Amino acid sequence: MHCKLIGAPVQDGTGRMGCEMGPSAFRAAGLTQALEELGHNVTDLGNVEPAPKRALTHSNPALKNLSEIVAWIEALDKAAYDHSADGFPIFLGGDHALAAGTVCGLSRRAKELGRPLFVLWLDAHTDFHTLETTASGNLHGTPVAYYTGQKGFEGTFPEVLAPVDPANVCMIGIRSVDPAERVAISKTEVTVNDMRMIDEHGVVALLNRFLQRVKDANGLLHVSLDVDFLDPNIAPAVGTTVPGGATFREAHLIMEMLHDSELVTSFEAVELNPFLDERGRTAFLMVDLIASLMGRSVMDRPTRSFA
Ligand code: ARG
Ligand code: MN
Ligand code: MN
Repeated sequence: MHCKLIGAPVQDGTGRMGCEMGPSAFRAAGLTQALEELGHNVTDLGNVEPAPKRALTHSNPALKNLSEIVAWIEALDKAAYDHSADGFPIFLGGDHALAAGTVCGLSRRAKELGRPLFVLWLDAHTDFHTLETTASGNLHGTPVAYYTGQKGFEGTFPEVLAPVDPANVCMIGIRSVDPAERVAISKTEVTVNDMRMIDEHGVVALLNRFLQRVKDANGLLHVSLDVDFLDPNIAPAVGTTVPGGATFREAHLIMEMLHDSELVTSFEAVELNPFLDERGRTAFLMVDLIASLMGRSVMDRPTRSFA
């Protein structure tokens, strides 16, 4: 596989600094070497730069860094569209606001190919606020509502040319949802697997159900992994920790199953804040998870676990 690493040092979608260093931390933790050891061809395309900023205002006074995030969305939409023409793009965040750009670009590509785009959202949060409903004003809480074409972004964020069908979005790991998000997401067909769903059914059943749908639809599959999907005890380097997250084995199992499915066509790792890390342990864990996604396994497995 030809892996293309694309740094997206976005941090203006959060309330604090540090995610800008995320792409460097993935590199320092040995991502390129880990992928090469698996036999992949790796091109590090460096970091994307934001488009020129425009002055923007909005009636919600809480919104933070609107002009900066719109500039990132424009640049990342283009980068995702361009780099998904061939190879396997791996976007290195950067906070989750970057997904407003990447997913829109990937979705334009999918539309052109005549195939539906599916998104697996591994996160503690639904990130389903609009510009009107967010109380924190942190725009990393808005990308899913945006790329699925919900109302509440018109005239401020760029127009979504190829909205992702909400029915094609599957979330796993959810355990922090604001009241407005809960109301809004309930009106859609987004699949929300909260931690209770994992406890009751296990990640295997939840993921297989979704993968079967992707396969039946001949879809493209983008995986968006937020560091806070993981339990804070194993992944402290994130600004929005929520207790009770995915375990080490659950996270690796998901990555291994995704690999075996052969359905994933693009990936992003977001919200890594190296300033909050402990001697790089979260960065190393994230690199190991990406390695599992890209084929690392303890033993050879002759049979595929997903059919
Ligand atoms: N719902 C909260 C907010 O809107 C938290 C969002 C966290 N998002 C994230 N990508 N970590 O402020
Ligand atoms: Mn998120
Ligand atoms: Mn999150």
